[in-house]
Amino acid sequence: MFFSEFFSKYLCFLMSKKRYTITAALPYANGPLHIGHLAGAYIAADIYARHLRLKGEDVIFVCGSDEHGAAITIKAKKERTTPRKIVNKYNQIIRKSFEQFGIAFDIYHRTSEPIHYETSQEIFNILNDKNAFEIIENEQYYDAKANQFLADRYIIGTCPKCANENAYGDQCEKCGSSLNPTDLINPKSTLTNSTPILKKTKHWFLKLDQQQDAIREWLETTAEKNNWKAHVIGQCKSWLNDGLRPRAMTRDLDWGIPVPANIEGSEGKVLYVWLDAPIGYISATKQLFKEIGEEKFDFAYPQNFSKYLQNKKAEDWRKYWQDEDTTLINFIGKDNIVFHCITFPAILKITEQYILTSNVPANEFMNLEGDKISTSRNWAVWLHEYLEEFPGKEDELRYCLIANMPENKDSEFTWKEYQDRVNNELVATYGNFVNRVVTLIHKYYLGTLDNSFRQTMRDNDTVLSKIISETEQNIANSIEQFKFKDALNELMAFARAGNKFLADTEPWKLVKEDPDKTRSILSIALDWVYALAIFSKPLLPKSADKIFRMLNADVTDNDPFNYQPKKEHINPIVLLFEKITDEQIAVQIDKLQQPKQIQLENSGDKSSPSLPLKSEIQYDDFAKMDIRTGKILEAEKVPKADKLLKLIVDIGIEQRTIVSGIAEHFKPEAIVGQQVLVLVNLAPRKLRGIESNGMILMAEDADGKLHFAQANVNAGMEVR
Ligand code: MF3
Ligand code: ZN
Repeated sequence: MFFSEFFSKYLCFLMSKKRYTITAALPYANGPLHIGHLAGAYIAADIYARHLRLKGEDVIFVCGSDEHGAAITIKAKKERTTPRKIVNKYNQIIRKSFEQFGIAFDIYHRTSEPIHYETSQEIFNILNDKNAFEIIENEQYYDAKANQFLADRYIIGTCPKCANENAYGDQCEKCGSSLNPTDLINPKSTLTNSTPILKKTKHWFLKLDQQQDAIREWLETTAEKNNWKAHVIGQCKSWLNDGLRPRAMTRDLDWGIPVPANIEGSEGKVLYVWLDAPIGYISATKQLFKEIGEEKFDFAYPQNFSKYLQNKKAEDWRKYWQDEDTTLINFIGKDNIVFHCITFPAILKITEQYILTSNVPANEFMNLEGDKISTSRNWAVWLHEYLEEFPGKEDELRYCLIANMPENKDSEFTWKEYQDRVNNELVATYGNFVNRVVTLIHKYYLGTLDNSFRQTMRDNDTVLSKIISETEQNIANSIEQFKFKDALNELMAFARAGNKFLADTEPWKLVKEDPDKTRSILSIALDWVYALAIFSKPLLPKSADKIFRMLNADVTDNDPFNYQPKKEHINPIVLLFEKITDEQIAVQIDKLQQPKQIQLENSGDKSSPSLPLKSEIQYDDFAKMDIRTGKILEAEKVPKADKLLKLIVDIGIEQRTIVSGIAEHFKPEAIVGQQVLVLVNLAPRKLRGIESNGMILMAEDADGKLHFAQANVNAGMEVR
């Protein structure tokens, strides 16, 4: 009976469909993803979307790359390449990681797509028509050498609060104060290291001050009605209490979406990245429905798309953004709160065409092994590396990140805890339960329990039906209140109860005396496993699918509620989880502690004289050096200089002229083709009238003889 009850409840949900637009923050396409991203926004969003799809709601789940702003241009400068190349590279890497990890977006779009340019410019025009901007002229820092205005992050100087000499124009990372570029003492442009000058420029400022009351009223009602998280409300209140001020929505940059040409004085101006990025949610939705309308949407991926997406037309995007019956939920990390709770809603409100968010269930931050995750210090667990080093273990990581999700306060990931949770919870409880049931059914009944018998069992069972309906309710309630940790606890309690059921009934003892009863026990246990898989679909989707395959339930037919076995026979056991060894953990911890390694060729012969060690430096000191693999293309003697060779070196992205003091050691013709390591970001220096752009790394042996430091790889790789 419980199955049909369970079933009909879902059918009920199917009929009272609600429409949801679920978004997850668009990651900057300027670097790979790490566990902090997953724990901050993407796993929460994915659980929520999968849960609603399972309930049969009408859901879209959209995301994409955020490809504009100084985050991108700075990275391009660092990698000595173009912003375009940077976004193409990281969009690929991020997209692949999400896909492998199993985040089930309906679309992963890009803010560099034409449809996004159109949408952003259209909204800018609407704002302009509605008189939402005021043009303000002010003075901003300008780098006269580089001929450009400087984004806040391009200016460093001394922090007026704590005297840190490397504070950025928008923030001091040492004391955490947020700054204006003009607050900095002794400002320097990071482009040319020159002192920037103040130059007049004008920008379009959104008159947020005029929205203050409307936003406050909307926020208070919405937050209360939908029970927003306290820390999100707290941040919003503090912004509102400080008083909203006009905020510049344009920039002087050559990377971004141009301010629409029909607007006077728009030349050279682009949209502020935080104006265009959230509009990216809308463009992604437009693109999704365009693809569905043109029958280009791949319904095979993600597997669990909402069935309401079928037979839609391009114009249907509007329902998801402009129909008051739609619930919009934005999943983000806490650093994005103001943009999602104040600026973006204000923009949408002014247009008078769009719905506003219902909830912004932002998570806080996840730390790693006692320290803040830091990209620049390489203190992170990178998703693409994890996927490579722990293939097939997506759910293990997902489980730990859910169990530790920073829902209301910062949390911490440690490898030891990862190991403990996998071994003691996933292997010992969850995996063990599934394993025992499937193994026993194979052992006693060769994998077949006939269905009519099972139906009778179900109709008479009360134990399982009760716990199923309780668990189902509790998981649903928890997920719908964004309490993902609680949902996971419910899931595990259900698995534990399954184990207890086996321990109490002891089918392995009973099988001799009472085969009939044993059969009924295992029949119930098998249904228990089915239900565990259903409950796992949002939380541990890969494991759920493995169980469905094991039990021969067809899960590709977009009908997750139909978990009646298609065949009576179940497949042999597939181990869901295996123990994580101490060695595996040690490798990871080691890797964190020695984040960058220079792999020099071991030339084997003479070691260097025992020089005293230089004094200790910080990792940051090392990280400043950009060392790359290279290859010498040309070499010639520098006239009238005994020691110098002029080299042309291929460093992958370009060829460099480097003057090197190795002429007494090598004949020029002998080193053409030599693989080398090059310090490529050493400031240029003139030697005998030739500008040298970099330094070749050498090792000196006890006899004072020089050897090339080298890696036997192609030119252009970063050494770290
Ligand atoms: N790219 C931003 C970040 O990584 C997030 C953008 S969210 C969006 O912090 F709303 F703007 F899309
Ligand atoms: Zn400071």
